[in-house]
Amino acid sequence: DTFARWLCAMPKAELHLHIDGSLQPERLLQLARKNGVSLPYTSIEAVEAAYDFADLQSFLDLYYLGASVLREEEDFYHLMMDYLLRCKAQNIVHAEIMVEPQTYAAQGVAMATIMAGFRRAIDEARAGWGQSVLLILSLLRHLPEDDALATLAAADAFREDFVAIGLASSERDFPPEGFARLYAAAREREYALTAHAGEEGPAANLRTALDLLGVQRIDHGVRCVDDPALVAELARRQVPLTVCPLSNVRLCVFESMAQHNILQLLEAGVMVTVNSDDPAYFGGYLNENFLALAQHLDLGREQAKTLLHNSFAASFLPAREQQRLR
Ligand code: ADE
Ligand code: ZN
Repeated sequence: DTFARWLCAMPKAELHLHIDGSLQPERLLQLARKNGVSLPYTSIEAVEAAYDFADLQSFLDLYYLGASVLREEEDFYHLMMDYLLRCKAQNIVHAEIMVEPQTYAAQGVAMATIMAGFRRAIDEARAGWGQSVLLILSLLRHLPEDDALATLAAADAFREDFVAIGLASSERDFPPEGFARLYAAAREREYALTAHAGEEGPAANLRTALDLLGVQRIDHGVRCVDDPALVAELARRQVPLTVCPLSNVRLCVFESMAQHNILQLLEAGVMVTVNSDDPAYFGGYLNENFLALAQHLDLGREQAKTLLHNSFAASFLPAREQQRLR
């Protein structure tokens, strides 16, 4: 229809995308064969049938299993290039992409290998069609804070490749208060700061991320509605939330898309944005996330314009670069 055509043609920015979450079933199976990694599935249908999640942890178990097929520089090149080609196809002119080196360190893959493959893909996309990319060093909260600190130190050799740090993985058992030293060390290195908070965990996790970790942006954050004073503060301070509608429904954060609170937050004046999180696992990239909101929440063109504008305004790009891309 006309909304869909308009939306597809609009320049968009994606601020919440785990690169491992863009590993498509075809690529997953191909790399598993190439690298001799055995998986519990051998067909695309079996992979898709397995992607039926009860909560965040049941997803994360398959997400880390999927990432275990990536071993060599060219694997990381293909993973990144597959996603950047999706950006080109969907008019996602700017992407802020989370990279999680701790996932690969466990398999003995060095950060230099990962980054060489990613850089090669990003350089080609930039030269090829002007793709804009920033990388976020995403640390894993189910591992000890000292492991994240060691990864941050190892990333000093790639300091110019990363604009920010983030904090992802299991929120329920690993609240933000365990990562104050990590965020202090990242601030000292002049990284921008973001963290997952208020996805499955309580609204209090947003407060801790803001007050103790000092983040300037929050990934997900939808549970903020349990604390009306917090919602008012997020609106007053214009703290961006990188909301992921399809992810939230697939991980049972909301029972259905009709129950999603993103438009309620938009009405309350919160700087919300639309993102895909792990598109290969949740059934859609950025366009599909917007179209699901249009279908189930009656998202109109004016609201969509505000959401699209917010994604550029909430990005870590300098203002003149935001202006140029929009
Ligand atoms: N890692 C990948 N996707 C995630 C999510 N939705 N929440 C926490 N950690 C993640
Ligand atoms: Zn995420």
